[in-house]
Amino acid sequence: MQLEKTKRALRLPEGSEICLRGWVYRKREIGKKIFIVIRDSEGILQTVIDSGRVSEETFNEALKASIEASIEVCGRTAREPRAPGGVELRVSKVKVWGPSEDFPIKGGEGVDYLLDNRHLWIRSRKLTAVWRIRHTTLSALREYLINNGWWEVSPPILTQAAVEGGATLFKVDFFGKEAYLSQSAQFYLEALIYSLERVWSLTTSFRAERSRTRRHLYEYWHLELEEAWAEMRDSMKVAEELISYAISRVLDERLEELEFLKRDIESLERARKGNFPSITYDEAIELLRKKGVDIKWGEDLGADEERVLTTYFETPFFVTHFPKKIKSFYMKLDPQRPDVVLGFDLLAPEGYGEIIGGSQREDRYEVLLNRIKEEGLDPKEYKWYLDLRRYGSVPHSGFGLGVDRFVMWIAGLDHIRDSIPFPRFRDRLYP
Ligand code: 4AD
Ligand code: MG
Repeated sequence: MQLEKTKRALRLPEGSEICLRGWVYRKREIGKKIFIVIRDSEGILQTVIDSGRVSEETFNEALKASIEASIEVCGRTAREPRAPGGVELRVSKVKVWGPSEDFPIKGGEGVDYLLDNRHLWIRSRKLTAVWRIRHTTLSALREYLINNGWWEVSPPILTQAAVEGGATLFKVDFFGKEAYLSQSAQFYLEALIYSLERVWSLTTSFRAERSRTRRHLYEYWHLELEEAWAEMRDSMKVAEELISYAISRVLDERLEELEFLKRDIESLERARKGNFPSITYDEAIELLRKKGVDIKWGEDLGADEERVLTTYFETPFFVTHFPKKIKSFYMKLDPQRPDVVLGFDLLAPEGYGEIIGGSQREDRYEVLLNRIKEEGLDPKEYKWYLDLRRYGSVPHSGFGLGVDRFVMWIAGLDHIRDSIPFPRFRDRLYP
């Protein structure tokens, strides 16, 4: 008999003889019948073991198959309107591969318990739907870049200097010297544009964030792009195309999973069309004040402010031209207005907020050196980074996308932890 998958089995002609391998998702005994819903990587399928039609040995084997045991069943498909998907498998043979005694997750457990049992909870249908959406998102992001002439490069994770400020640095003991886990590959990508011009990398980035929030991980997946001969607006255009392309692919390929998660896809449908609006930081401050937010020019936009801003927009939108004080030293000063930088964030709608941070980079040696000093940083630590402005400097821009935050928004999750199988937090390491 043919080894099949649950989803394909639903489409086979009635009466097909097949075998399935998977895990016991649900089990009920009604009279002389046992109903076992099997879960595999494709979905679920109901199977029925009828004591009147199978040997006693087979029936006993089915009795032993408890929740989350791995099993193999063989039988014939039949239409059954009461089964999920309208098909069930009438079983003639059962084999338990790996028993499962008293599976620790029974439903209704709290967040911490589920994090402690993350290695088991990641099998849930909810999280499986997210992994599939995440897969398609990553595959689409890569596909866009490869098809549009961007070079993939492999920057290091062990680094010597902060990219995004000392406060969130993870220190590592590097044979007696201090080193840091990378917050961003940006500086290495900048070094690589002098040969490849348009580069990208997908790496983990590390941030020792002060507090635990819905949208911060301590280790997250960072897709970063850097482009020579590009100004801020050029980079924003790339960000818009990249995001709308990925969303479009997810809508085309993962509709079932989005439905399973009860994701309202209207905002994704709008986002797939591109045309993301753009406002300046100054305009953002005005919009916030109109909604009664008490914020002064020069203050950073946190998650709360971003949430209020998203009520003005139905698609992702850009905020540009931030005060230089709240952004990193490497952002290029606006030649018209040197108190602001040519930086941009992309905010996802529906309250989600920042998913991309990017900028045009300061490409003038003297200005960059002064900015480093102004921030109280040690120019010696940035020697090689400054060198890039001494030998053939070019205008260039780039950005970083928080993949987990992007997946969180696409899947409509209320916490970033469920966008990644094994989230890392400050207080302790779960599995
Ligand atoms: O805005 P950030 O800090 O920008 C940079 O790191 C730039 N050097 C990137 C570049 O231009 N190459 O981080 C970029 C994005 C954020 O917009 C956010 O989506 C994500 O990374 N991010 C986090 N995601 C999850 N957990 C955290 N703790 C994150 N910190 C940043
Ligand atoms: Mg940022």
